[in-house]
Amino acid sequence: KSEELLPYLEQLGVVPLVTLHSLDEAVPLAQALEEGGVPVAEVTFRSPFCIEGMKKIAAEVPGVTLVAGTVHTLDQAKASIDAGAKGLVTPAFTEEIVDWALENNVPILPGTAVPSDVDKAYQRGMRYVKFFPAEAYGGVKTLKALNGPFAEMKFLPTGGVSLKNAAEYIGLKNVFAIGGSFPVPSAAQKVGDWAAVAQACKDARAIVEP
Ligand code: 3PG
Repeated sequence: KSEELLPYLEQLGVVPLVTLHSLDEAVPLAQALEEGGVPVAEVTFRSPFCIEGMKKIAAEVPGVTLVAGTVHTLDQAKASIDAGAKGLVTPAFTEEIVDWALENNVPILPGTAVPSDVDKAYQRGMRYVKFFPAEAYGGVKTLKALNGPFAEMKFLPTGGVSLKNAAEYIGLKNVFAIGGSFPVPSAAQKVGDWAAVAQACKDARAIVEP
């Protein structure tokens, strides 16, 4: 399964982070992502609407690929897969979740920030990881440095990635996609301006498209 999801994210080049503030916004928000040419949502456990929101999106906007984000526990990981998530993203290298995912062929992008984290993934045969918090942990400069000892690893930088620095990140050979909240501007989400969300997705796609 990892062979399917991760190359798909690589093809899209951008993974929008979605934190649902209500259940009602799940469907229009997902439709905006699709309209904007970025039919994937990393729905985070930062709100109580994560699981129900993913179920709604899976049922009503099937063209949007769901990934669970900010997964801290194994229970969250299992519940999100049951709700329709095709993969997991964790903020940290949480070994219990990573090993469960690998054993069960669930695609996972564990958070890594330093060489020790990256090496834990590498030793497990993984080649795709998240790099978080990207800007705070040295951004482009750190990713370039990691490419020396970890030339086979591909990263999803998140945390401070924006339309302003997107081109720099996606231009790196060890960045397979960029992620973050920038494709879903919080001001637009707050007022339900789904056209603005779709436009932000189009702007992001325009930068990452080869
Ligand atoms: C994440 O969990 O990936 C980050 O919190 C996203 O950070 P951003 O809001 O700066 O994109």
